[in-house]
Amino acid sequence: MRLTVHSGEDVFEGDFPPGTTLLSAFGALGIVIDTPCGGAGKCGKCRVRVEGSASLSLPGQVEREILGEALKAGIRLACMTGITGDCHVFLDPGSFQAIATIDEISFEGCDPLVRRRSLAIPSGGVKRDILSTLVENTRENLDLSDFYTGSLDGEISIYTRPGKLVAIDGRRSSNLGVALDIGTTTIATALLDLDSGEVLAKENSMNPQRAFGHDVISRITHTVVEREGLKTLSSVARKAVSKLIEVLCERSERRPGDINEVVVSGNTTMTHLLFGFPVRSIAIAPFSPFYGGIVRKKAGEIGLDLSPFSEVLALPAISGYVGGDIVAGILSTGLREREDELLIDLGTNGEIVISSGGSLLCCSTAAGPAFEGGNITCGVGNVSGAIEKVSFDKSLTLKTIGDTSPSGICGSGLISIVSLFLKNGMIEALGRFSDLQSWPGELRDRFDKKRNGFILSGDVYITLKDLRQFQLAKAALRTGIEVLLKSFYKGGLKKIRIAGGFGSKIDIGDLFTTGILPPWLDCEIVVEGNTSLRGAIATLLYRSSLAEIDAIIGCSKYIELSSLDEFRNMYIDRMGYI
Ligand code: FES
Repeated sequence: MRLTVHSGEDVFEGDFPPGTTLLSAFGALGIVIDTPCGGAGKCGKCRVRVEGSASLSLPGQVEREILGEALKAGIRLACMTGITGDCHVFLDPGSFQAIATIDEISFEGCDPLVRRRSLAIPSGGVKRDILSTLVENTRENLDLSDFYTGSLDGEISIYTRPGKLVAIDGRRSSNLGVALDIGTTTIATALLDLDSGEVLAKENSMNPQRAFGHDVISRITHTVVEREGLKTLSSVARKAVSKLIEVLCERSERRPGDINEVVVSGNTTMTHLLFGFPVRSIAIAPFSPFYGGIVRKKAGEIGLDLSPFSEVLALPAISGYVGGDIVAGILSTGLREREDELLIDLGTNGEIVISSGGSLLCCSTAAGPAFEGGNITCGVGNVSGAIEKVSFDKSLTLKTIGDTSPSGICGSGLISIVSLFLKNGMIEALGRFSDLQSWPGELRDRFDKKRNGFILSGDVYITLKDLRQFQLAKAALRTGIEVLLKSFYKGGLKKIRIAGGFGSKIDIGDLFTTGILPPWLDCEIVVEGNTSLRGAIATLLYRSSLAEIDAIIGCSKYIELSSLDEFRNMYIDRMGYI
């Protein structure tokens, strides 16, 4: 069945088996729309206009209740509507999610993974063959067994990776690299000039695989229950990465054909899906990934149209749930060489690493996607308009990303809102809303009984169910921190580094108020932002990173928390706010 999606001047087309929901088809086409309820048919936010309703499944009770009269105008819910024939769907161009922010990053000097040297072909006689003479001039001991040969007119450039000649070519104007952090919720990228080390452009987007579930387990399940599931999810990720690279190049006026290296620092499941590796084993004890070490593939093998000798390198995982993104975080913070420091990644897997006695003790806590805006009724990623902070002083003030009108709640906004509720006595110890009469007047007026939620602005609100999602996430992370520190660590903690795609907006006080951090912690706390992307950049720019990555893997010890009684017992306890 042919689906054609129109959005402004853009047209997307694809063929799908009958019964595929519009939302799944959008995901496969690399289109991300707002789905605050994760496609559960509850939020009514995934509205699209359709033409050819005879080619779509009939609206069920959920759609009839949510859409009412709008159904007659051709409006449908993408998550509830199945394709039964050829049809056209129209999206408001503004309904695509665009990430608004990414950390400021700067690096000094470089010794990149792909080096370029300009050399002139000797005109006179040479002692040995011309190629060996050229390579001798690089003063590197290089394997010459397999390299790309481009134009050899005039001044040429020699491209090398550690220990290897990779290309001789005279026509390329730049030597570029892409750093790629692929997470469950967000994909962050940066384009770099590998000759100068300059960050030329940065861009990120929501991971369109969200249409197949907001957490890694849903996506793994999709690859198991759907015959083409792995292929579909791989293709969705690859298209999203291609699109981001296109945007990076457009913005910096560079050519994708000059990109010679891509370094991926993703969580284990997302990296596997990008490379097309099976992920089933990550969901079953002992949760082993399909691959462990550094993986390299030709860019073309994973659907990226870059330079003819471009390769994609994925950083190694420590375990199924402590992936290359955390290795990159350890690399970029220099954690291995720092004693008594804790790195916490506030993402879907909630990874925690502590440097102790020359080892790196790691665990993950299955926090779920709440800290990234997932499974929250009006939750969004770091998009323009996302509420990132709230404050109350006689009246409620909302701070949104880009200072535009509120479009949803991102992870840091959620933490800030829960903190505000707790400070104003609006949540009881077990997590329920307290008696409305005890709330400050202006806040009390914002409670909507019909939605059983607190209205932040217009259609953006937070419900009791959302508070439960937050409790699950914070209990998992808090328990992980406590068990790791109390049972596996005997030192005196000097510093905590908070990482995550939204880290720079988090108020450290809110982490204590909401109970994400235990109150007895007494050390310096710094907010690091996206350490994963920084680690991918460091790998591209400094060859010494590869040896450091080996050292990180060599001294890392993974602790499986879910098998420990003390984790299970404490987890229930930490759900509350006592
Ligand atoms: S109703 Fe479709 S995503 Fe919420």
